[in-house]
Amino acid sequence: MRRLIKNNVSWIGYIDWELESFHGDDYSIFNGSSQNAYLIEEEKTVLIDTIWTPHRFDYIENLKSEIDLNKIDFVVANHGECDHSGALQALMPELKPGTPIYCTANAVKSIEGQYGKRGWNFKVVKTGDSVEIGNNKKLVFVEMRMLHWPDSMATYMTGDNILFSNDAFGQHFAVEELFNDKADQCLLYKEAMKYFANILNPFAALVSKKLDEIAKLNLDIDIIATSHGAIWRDNPMQIVKKYAEWANAYQENQVTVAYDTMWEGTTKIAHKISEEIARQSPDTVVKVFNIAKSDKNEMMTELFKSKAIAVGSPTVGNSILSSVMGWIEFAKQLKFKNKKAAAFGCYGWSGESVKILQERLKDAGFNVIDENIKSAWTMTPEDEAKIPELVKSLLA
Ligand code: FEO
Repeated sequence: MRRLIKNNVSWIGYIDWELESFHGDDYSIFNGSSQNAYLIEEEKTVLIDTIWTPHRFDYIENLKSEIDLNKIDFVVANHGECDHSGALQALMPELKPGTPIYCTANAVKSIEGQYGKRGWNFKVVKTGDSVEIGNNKKLVFVEMRMLHWPDSMATYMTGDNILFSNDAFGQHFAVEELFNDKADQCLLYKEAMKYFANILNPFAALVSKKLDEIAKLNLDIDIIATSHGAIWRDNPMQIVKKYAEWANAYQENQVTVAYDTMWEGTTKIAHKISEEIARQSPDTVVKVFNIAKSDKNEMMTELFKSKAIAVGSPTVGNSILSSVMGWIEFAKQLKFKNKKAAAFGCYGWSGESVKILQERLKDAGFNVIDENIKSAWTMTPEDEAKIPELVKSLLA
């Protein structure tokens, strides 16, 4: 069923209360999500994006219950990823033959790459291109290359001052009432940050550049209509300001201690390091995770907030635990900047883990400190005595 966004603009998407993961299982979802698509009914009738493939028939049935599909003049595909383009295959044959799809050149590639060449009437647009929709309103397109796909773009509707931002400013978060002022504010920001840290942070430099570019366009923005989660209508620029902060090597006064363990020797070191951080710097937030037992996306959000991390693994098979190896590789993908890191771990005989952790953390872009804790079998009083120096260096 359509929900009114403003004047002749409606939401016609899918709120998914049951979704537990995204991008396969690479992104955890604990508070539902939504695929937001929109219907504009000015002199022209326009669809902004569609929804994910599994819900394509709900989407089309919803549309049919609201409008005659023959009235649709064109579709805007802001992004080719299948959570927004997944209903096109079923939808396009229901529309008038030759109904245009406005999108970027890269979106033609991604859409045809996924669904094959179907003879759809793509209208390729670039930043600044626009199309009239009647009633003195138009849609202006803004390429959002690599935010987060090469094909991404946003669409700005003049007159109603709505920015259809697609993935940017979104959250995997189900909000029945749709709007940010109706959402649980803690969860809203938690999910918006998780989305940024886990999806957009690799492109943080481009986010900063794009925000500057959008600012120069001097658009009046009354609503940011995202493609996931809450739609920002109450002070929509609040999330733009947050993105500007988050995109600039963001950190809070927080340190994260993350480890995995075989027989709890490395756990003991982790706990001692955590205690020492709290002792030396009571204002610093300390987060402690067993990597194998914690959600990786939630951990990465905490990493995103941290100014420093301490990472531990025992030595196993002349290396480190696979859980920790994979975790560091994921952190590398997210391209965190300006964060210190320390390594620690127990060993029984060969003892390579600390050296490997340091190498991997450096390779992942962390500023690795020399101080480390490498304990034979279990932490000795001598090892423990080195922890204050390690923490001092980590906090400096
Ligand atoms: Fe929500 Fe990049 O898809």
